[in-house]
Amino acid sequence: MQYRQHNPLPIPAIGEFQHVQGTLDAVFDWHYELKRSKLLELYEKGKANTWNASDLAWDTEVDIEKMVSQRQALGGGGMLNQLLAPPRPLDDREALTLNLHMNAFMLSQFLHGEQGALLATAKIVETVPWAEAKFYAANQVADEARHVEVYHRYLTEKLGISYPIHPSLGELLGDIMTDARWDVTYLGMQIMVEGLALAAFGLQKMMMAEESLIVDITTRIMADESRHVAFGVISLEEIYQDMTAGELREREDFVMEATHLMRERLLMQPVFERLGWPVDVWVPWAQNTPFMKGFRQMLFSKIVPNLKRLGLLTPRVREMYAGLDLLRFEHMKDSVEDPEMAAPQELVQLLMQFLAQGAQAPQPGVAAK
Ligand SMILES: [Fe+2]
Ligand SMILES: [Fe+2]
Repeated sequence: MQYRQHNPLPIPAIGEFQHVQGTLDAVFDWHYELKRSKLLELYEKGKANTWNASDLAWDTEVDIEKMVSQRQALGGGGMLNQLLAPPRPLDDREALTLNLHMNAFMLSQFLHGEQGALLATAKIVETVPWAEAKFYAANQVADEARHVEVYHRYLTEKLGISYPIHPSLGELLGDIMTDARWDVTYLGMQIMVEGLALAAFGLQKMMMAEESLIVDITTRIMADESRHVAFGVISLEEIYQDMTAGELREREDFVMEATHLMRERLLMQPVFERLGWPVDVWVPWAQNTPFMKGFRQMLFSKIVPNLKRLGLLTPRVREMYAGLDLLRFEHMKDSVEDPEMAAPQELVQLLMQFLAQGAQAPQPGVAAK
C-alpha cells in the first residue's frame, strides 16, 4: 500500500498524537459457549466479504472541480442558489469552492471517525464478555483499518483538500474511549457514530455519483458498516431489556449528548473559517436553511429505528428528537430487520418533502434549534 501523499492531513490543535486515559476491565471468556447464532452468522459474513483496498482503481483520475463545473455549465449554479438559499447569492466560483470544501470536510471527518472506530472496536474485543462478540469485533477491527487506509489515501493522493478532526467529533470519540462500561462503547460507536456514517455515506455516494472511485469506496464501506451497526444492535438488545431504570437513564443521557455533538459537527464551522466567510452569518445559515436541516435530519434515519429497537427511544429522548423533527424515522426498518442502509432514493424523497414544506414556511431567522 504505497501511495504518494500530495496533501498531508492538517494536525489538530491538540497535537500529532493524542493520549486518552482508558479505564477498562479486559474480560476472558473461558466458557467459549458460542451459542449466539446471530453474532456467529455476522462473523461468517464479515470473513467472507473482506476486500483489499489495494484492488481499487487507484489510477482513476479524480477531478471534483471539473465535475462540479460541468454541473454548473448545465445550469446547476442557479439551482444550487435556489436549493441552498445562502445568505447572499453565490457566483459559480464561490459555489464551486463551497462544494469542494464541504466534500473534503465530510470525507476528512469520515477518516477521523474510522480511526475512532478502529480504536473503539479494539476496546470491544477486550471488554465484551462473550467470545462470539469478540470474534466479530476482531473482524470489524480489520475492516476499520482498511477504511482508514482508503479514506486517507483518497484524501491525500486524490483530493488535495483536507481538514483536521472537528472538536465535537473528537469529544465524542474521547467519551466513547474513556467510558469503562463496554455497552457504552457499542452505543457510542456502533449505534450513534456508525449509524450516522451509514446514512452519510449513502448521501455522499449520491452527491458524487459521477466520481467512480469514491462511489466504489463508499459502496464497499457501506456494506461493511451495515454489518457493524447490526453488530451493535444484536449485542445491545440482549442486555438493555434487563437494565434497571437508573442504568437506562444513564444510556439516555449518553444518547442525548452524542446527538448534540454530532449535530454540532454538521454545522461545518471549520469550512467557513477556512474560506474566510463570516461564521456569524454562515453558521446560522447552516442551522436554518431547509436543505442543511434536511441533510442533518436524514443522517439520523438509521439511528432512530435502532434506538427504538433497543428501548432507548424513551420519553426524554423522544422529546429531544421531536424537537429536532427526527421522529419521522421511527417507523423505518432497524438494522436487524434491514441490515442495508436506507435506500438513497428514500432519503431523497424525504429531503424533497422537507424542501417542499420549507418553501412554504417563512425563511427562519437566526434562532436555531
Ligand atoms: Fe468503518
Ligand atoms: Fe465501522
